[in-house]
Amino acid sequence: SRTVRRNADGVVTVGGLDVGALAEEFGTPAYFLDEDDFRARCRAWKDAFGPGADVFYAGKAFLSRAVVRWLAEEGLNLDVCSGGELATALSAGMPAERIALHGNNKSTEEITRAVEAGVGRIVLDSFQEIVRVAHIAERLGKRQRVQIRVTVGVEAHTHEFIATAHEDQKFGIALAGGQAAEAVRRALKLDGLELTGIHSHIGSQIFDMAGFEVSARRVVQLLTEVRDEHGIELPEIDLGGGLGIAYTSDDDPREPHEIAAALGDIVTRECAAAGLAVPRLSVEPGRAIVGPTAFTLYEVGTVKELTGLRTYVSVDGGMSDNIRTALYDAEYSVALVSRSSDAEPMLSRVVGKHCESGDIVVRDAFLPADVAPGDLLAVPATGAYCRSMASNYNHALRPPVVAVADGVARVIVRRETEEDLLRLDVG
Ligand code: LLP
Repeated sequence: SRTVRRNADGVVTVGGLDVGALAEEFGTPAYFLDEDDFRARCRAWKDAFGPGADVFYAGKAFLSRAVVRWLAEEGLNLDVCSGGELATALSAGMPAERIALHGNNKSTEEITRAVEAGVGRIVLDSFQEIVRVAHIAERLGKRQRVQIRVTVGVEAHTHEFIATAHEDQKFGIALAGGQAAEAVRRALKLDGLELTGIHSHIGSQIFDMAGFEVSARRVVQLLTEVRDEHGIELPEIDLGGGLGIAYTSDDDPREPHEIAAALGDIVTRECAAAGLAVPRLSVEPGRAIVGPTAFTLYEVGTVKELTGLRTYVSVDGGMSDNIRTALYDAEYSVALVSRSSDAEPMLSRVVGKHCESGDIVVRDAFLPADVAPGDLLAVPATGAYCRSMASNYNHALRPPVVAVADGVARVIVRRETEEDLLRLDVG
């Protein structure tokens, strides 16, 4: 992130504050999030797509009330996928018309709250949900704006668990076999629904634009079929999120303006070929906005050298604050940040304090051979899907999120306490 630097003693500073002081004040482990960087990324996406498109930040990557306020101020919309995310968004003042509700199994209660609140969009994920949302909207005397999520049959080159547009998975309605066309037919018949467009999300941590191009082409093809069958041009297309970020120096992410240009071109070209007016485009980046803006700060507890293998460096967190390494084989880098060291690089594995051997934060890393208890380590690019997927495994207390802006650090999500844990335990 832009505000992270190393001073002459090798101590990392964040917005001018040194990590030792941050650790002292906020404890470890903790996530430090660069608010200026977050806002700059929001603006980059907004500017790249321009006034003719909408950028929905995907709240699942990381959501808090401060984040909602930043998004509202920067002119972004918000994609939520649960009642909890919806409640967070509304309680921090995001205008309901800028919220989209997602999910493959939204409850009646979640749908009801969203319709009552007046969310701008519900993304329908199944045939049953088409009817369910229509009934709820009718009962409330409303006409809900909806999109239908389709699966376009693209194999995104990413981990199996985060690829979503191939046929054999739980999301969306397949274009194949005319299923999506049938979903459109049904949605158009229901008074409670105003069908505004088609949605496609192909996966996450994707670098290759080819998958998005195929997705855009197939969605436009469906719009063409809808026009031919019903005489209606649906006015919106959403191409989802999924743009990759650099976790290690091997990754080479696209900039928002490149992504916007590529998607804009393909949609414009396909629509021109089909004689369709160009629909309003929206996208849903989560990771690409928040991922690079935060790092996790840990303190080293024990160092165990396994001769001929590697050195295990244990930190005071682990899979409860970053499950991504264990779950997806995700790669991270790590740095000693509380001092400089001229010691030889040593093959290390940074592990947590949880009771299983898969509790790995960084599988392979070179750390200085003199790394020792009390040193501070930083793992960059932990803004997305780390705090939001944090757990209480082994009754770990989930770490705080500290926002740094203009050289001032403030807690936006506080550290969990044992009291918090025990409050839920009512047996
Ligand atoms: N839109 C929809 C409908 C989604 O399902 C997702 C992510 C996004 C947007 C945002 O995707 P992003 O731009 O953040 O890649 N826990 C996994 C990622 C799961 C993504 C789920 N859906 C991970 O840690 O890699």
